[in-house]
Amino acid sequence: MSIHIMGTGSALPGRVVENRELEGMVDTSDEWIRERTGIGSRHVSTGQTVAELAADACQRALEDAGKQAEEVELILAATCSPEEAAPCVACQVQSRIGAGNAVAFDLNAACAGFLFALHTAWAYVEAGIYRNALVVGSEVLSKLVDWEDRSTCILFGDGAGAVYVENCQEGGLLSFVQHADGKKGGVLGGGARLLSNPWAGQQECQPFFRMDGREVFSFAVRQVPLNVEEALGKAGLGIPDVDLFVLHQANRRIIEGIAKRLGADLSRFPMNLERVGNTSSAAIPLLLDELNRQGRLKRGMRLVLSGFGAGLTCGACVMEW
Ligand code: ACO
Repeated sequence: MSIHIMGTGSALPGRVVENRELEGMVDTSDEWIRERTGIGSRHVSTGQTVAELAADACQRALEDAGKQAEEVELILAATCSPEEAAPCVACQVQSRIGAGNAVAFDLNAACAGFLFALHTAWAYVEAGIYRNALVVGSEVLSKLVDWEDRSTCILFGDGAGAVYVENCQEGGLLSFVQHADGKKGGVLGGGARLLSNPWAGQQECQPFFRMDGREVFSFAVRQVPLNVEEALGKAGLGIPDVDLFVLHQANRRIIEGIAKRLGADLSRFPMNLERVGNTSSAAIPLLLDELNRQGRLKRGMRLVLSGFGAGLTCGACVMEW
């Protein structure tokens, strides 16, 4: 038993922030950002919440699959930027789209979150517990970004991407791998809430994302190819068998480095980071939805999805579309 993606959806806030606009806020330039990252603009929330974006993406994924919300049995929301600790984003999505029969909960593995949630959906379906799931990655990272820090504010964007998956007897998700290295947690993180009880002393907190960019860069270029090869090996496939590599959209140079290490032509690595930046857990399903709506995904095509992020976390899966 496996899972098959039957529909995709996405949602982006309407406000687009071009690199040029950031030039007036921090000491940077459009040229620098494009050359070092490949990013040209990003969408930024002017009020939309993680749950609103997630619900819109899920609604579109259901429409694409031709399914009704009441049929959904499981909703998994991957996010590292919820507005509130509770209720979870997945429960808010359930309420917004009217999926009253679904169980719903969140999962946080930062930029690898969508992949880990997809693998979790697979595990529930494989165990025979649920027959279908909505899996969504949604982020409003703009509230965790220090807009005075040029090394991070240029990178991130807001948005959501979702897939509706159903059980299948053959094809679908063929294999996956996932890894975590908590000892490297200091490389990338932030978004702390202060301890405010009467017994706590003075607290130090890191409200914004901080990142060792070079460390993340080399981790991604080193680790993603290993994950991809490991997942392909489990599926009994090799690099030539893959039609498209749908990777986490963090930086064009990272993707170029991964393609080179894998010995695969860059044309097999679709990218949308030029327009949306790094949307963390939303990045992979957002790109999948774009490819799907452009008619670039044909049934039977073999895809590799791979993500990496804070934690550090990373993983990959192989699927037949
Ligand atoms: N504009 C202009 N100059 C800048 C900027 C900027 N926005 N940011 C940094 N610089 C400067 C630095 O201060 C440094 O100056 P110095 O030489 O005088 O000290 C110089 O540019 C080079 O800085 P580096 O950090 O070495 O630049 P690098 O080429 O490594 O690019 C970047 C930085 C883009 C952050 C890169 O390291 C990167 O992409 N890393 C991965 C980041 C990433 O993907 N993070 C998220 C992944 S996980 C997740 O998605 C949650």
